[in-house]
Amino acid sequence: MFGAGYVGLVTGACFAELGHEVVVRDVLPERIERLQAGEVPIYEPGLDLVLERNADRIRFTLDVREAVEGADFLYVAVGTPPTESGDADLRAVWSVVDEIPLGLEGHPIVVMKSTVPVGTGEHVRARLDGRGLTGVGYVSNPEFLAEGSAVADFMKPDRLVVGAFEDEHADRVLSLFRGIETEVVRTDVPSAELVKLAANAFLSTRISFINEIANVCELVGADVVDVAKGVGLDHRLGPHFLRAGIGFGGSCFPKDVTSLKQLAGNSGYQFMLLHAVWEVNELQKRRVVSKLQKHLGSMRGKTIALLGLAFKPNTDDMREAPSRVIAYRLLAEGAEVRAWDPIAHPDDLQGIELCDSVLDAVRNADAAVIVTEWPELAAIATPEVRDAMARPLIVDGRNLLDPVATRAAGFAYEGIGRPRHASPVEPEAARDPELKL
Ligand code: UDX
Repeated sequence: MFGAGYVGLVTGACFAELGHEVVVRDVLPERIERLQAGEVPIYEPGLDLVLERNADRIRFTLDVREAVEGADFLYVAVGTPPTESGDADLRAVWSVVDEIPLGLEGHPIVVMKSTVPVGTGEHVRARLDGRGLTGVGYVSNPEFLAEGSAVADFMKPDRLVVGAFEDEHADRVLSLFRGIETEVVRTDVPSAELVKLAANAFLSTRISFINEIANVCELVGADVVDVAKGVGLDHRLGPHFLRAGIGFGGSCFPKDVTSLKQLAGNSGYQFMLLHAVWEVNELQKRRVVSKLQKHLGSMRGKTIALLGLAFKPNTDDMREAPSRVIAYRLLAEGAEVRAWDPIAHPDDLQGIELCDSVLDAVRNADAAVIVTEWPELAAIATPEVRDAMARPLIVDGRNLLDPVATRAAGFAYEGIGRPRHASPVEPEAARDPELKL
């Protein structure tokens, strides 16, 4: 397994769980040392247990030879971040391909887990052939793991997608997943590559769509939570990825939307829908500031507490997190910004004060913004929090709280697409100031 990031570690650990011998190779000495010492360098629920349980079947190394010798499969799970032009940066992929030594025994298969532009497989095939590695196979096996539930997603996937140049190679890769019951999509390499990009772009489209519906809800007095429920119950549409909020982030959606848009553009096609998906997402993050301004006027000299920083709960991942844009937008407007997150403690958010507790973050603040729907934030509308704040204003960027109950608890409340009359609660409960949310 080349790459000890989220994908490489989870996939490696889960292959060990399925009974395979795994060697994980990375180029970062510190990362490998920590893994060798039994530490897990990323936060992913359940991963530590799987690694511990399979410690005798999984090794970590910096050495390519040690990783490839005797290997039947050479899985590539290295990072492919976007470059300044929006193309995928494939340098890490190429260095893996170029490091595969000549004269390996057997016929190992290079299996691509990293998300790559369509056409990469054919380029890798040509490069392997050019290096004389004609006996090494190539298969595209995209991953669909979501952070926070990656181990469960591996063990119970919705589908396995395998794109190969030769049927026998696809068979061999599928044999690795023996024991996992799911639908299998066998196809050619470019189609497998495109499944991954199309799936993530479509999920992103659903999010931007429901965010625009939320914005319309605010103007016409409808409640997006009920609208999404009504829409999602149509079996042709389904309920998933219809939660309105402050936009999507993470290591996949922004990158894959850009990558697919770029790929289409480079091939002579303007993917207009994805341009809109991207723009809507950028605007959605920034709408938090206008919601705050509506209540507070100018941001100059105001103190704002950001509650949650990670791009979603159950991860410490800050890549493309909406919190970054919101924090720097607020700073640019002259606000003082504090932040709290139970797991993510980024050291690159300059000018933002990180707090150890929610209470420290909201003390004397003019507003609190729920940026990530951490479960512990569901109960913040308490008298203690209300009294600690200079102004009890909550902007709920994830529609985590009940609007009526939060207002009844003495807060000014702004959700996303949830106008004032949204989700009535029992009149008795609404009057109870000690109401537990
Ligand atoms: C995603 C895909 O789900 C996964 O299949 C792929 O392999 C990698 O990308 P991940 O980035 O871990 O996984 O997170 P996901 O749970 O999909 O959420 C992505 C972003 O969308 C988050 O910022 C989340 O807050 C946001 N989101 C998700 C919404 O705003 N609304 C929703 O309804 C769902």
